[in-house]
Amino acid sequence: MSVIQWNESFHVGIEHLDNQHRKLVEMINELHTAMKKGEGKMIIQDILDKMTHYTLDHFKSEEVLFDQYVYPETGTHKQEHKAFVEKVANFKTKFDKGDIFLSIEVIMFLQEWLINHIKGSDKKYTSFLNSKGVR
Ligand code: FEO
Repeated sequence: MSVIQWNESFHVGIEHLDNQHRKLVEMINELHTAMKKGEGKMIIQDILDKMTHYTLDHFKSEEVLFDQYVYPETGTHKQEHKAFVEKVANFKTKFDKGDIFLSIEVIMFLQEWLINHIKGSDKKYTSFLNSKGVR
């Protein structure tokens, strides 16, 4: 498993959302690097906390636009966000309680989910939002 290389295949064509996606990718990479270096629980916990908060803010940024412009796939997209938030919250609770180590499988899940979501569901809103003048 390697860190995610940012490139234009991630671009959704809306500047502030692209910047947020880039930041999320950096955070996942930071988590990945910290794990490989065998950093302590406090550091991993701190990165995971920051990432959780940042993800929530990012999802809200997208959902505000969906609601404002009545994006037809709002329901499905919000559901994907909700499922991810619940999954991460579940990992975090177990990790905070010491029930699980943050394994490579968990990081891989986060990486894969993020890549697939940005390149799949997120890219679907580009033409719709661009047509509304959102860039
Ligand atoms: Fe960029 Fe739908 O998350």
